[in-house]
Amino acid sequence: MELLKRKIVEEGIVLSDQVLKVDSFLNHRIDPPLMLEIGRTFASLFRESAIDKIVTIESSGIAPAVMAGLELGVPVVFARKRKSLTLQTDLFTEKVYSFTKKEESEVSVATKFLSAGDRVLLIDDFLANGEAALAMARIVERAGGQVAGIGIVIEKSFQNGANKLTEKGYRVESLARIASLADGNVSFAE
Ligand code: G4P
Ligand code: NA
Ligand code: NA
Repeated sequence: MELLKRKIVEEGIVLSDQVLKVDSFLNHRIDPPLMLEIGRTFASLFRESAIDKIVTIESSGIAPAVMAGLELGVPVVFARKRKSLTLQTDLFTEKVYSFTKKEESEVSVATKFLSAGDRVLLIDDFLANGEAALAMARIVERAGGQVAGIGIVIEKSFQNGANKLTEKGYRVESLARIASLADGNVSFAE
């Protein structure tokens, strides 16, 4: 997606060989027209996939997921990182190991928002090692649903998440694929 790549080049800050900061349009401040284009692009990629619902993880997955949901006409469920105050007992909870943070966390979705037979599109802002996407997939599959595809805004292709997800048979569509962040430069994969 050319508009997104241009935004990354103009506003992204390469923090290290591993980490790209994009807080001016995705992770802190949000650019709504760009998010709408992102949603339209996901919708056109998955229009024929008979999606029933979108699942993402709070917080940065929500904006692109909502725009895709708007375009596809389906609801959006975000997995929560902390259990809601209104004590929920009926939850699917899965562990997510972060290689970046070297710590384990949990994400949960209320069982009432997932149904057996659901065809689910997973959406996330970043794909690094794929642990967050795999946790979402486990939740959907425990509910008896099917992961119809995975939509990623920015894939770091030099990390192994995309390979892991593809090897498991999931269809992964990333709107920008970064081959390298070496020497402070963003290089996109072809
Ligand atoms: P890992 O598997 O490589 O260890 O990374 P992980 O997916 O656990 O990522 C941890 C958090 O860091 C996630 O956000 C993820 O989106 C984000 N992230 C991973 N790589 C990058 C990167 O290069 N740049 C930016 N900006 N973020 C990255 P989160 O903690 O869930 O936060 P949020 O969704 O609330 O923003
Ligand atoms: Na993030
Ligand atoms: Na995220």
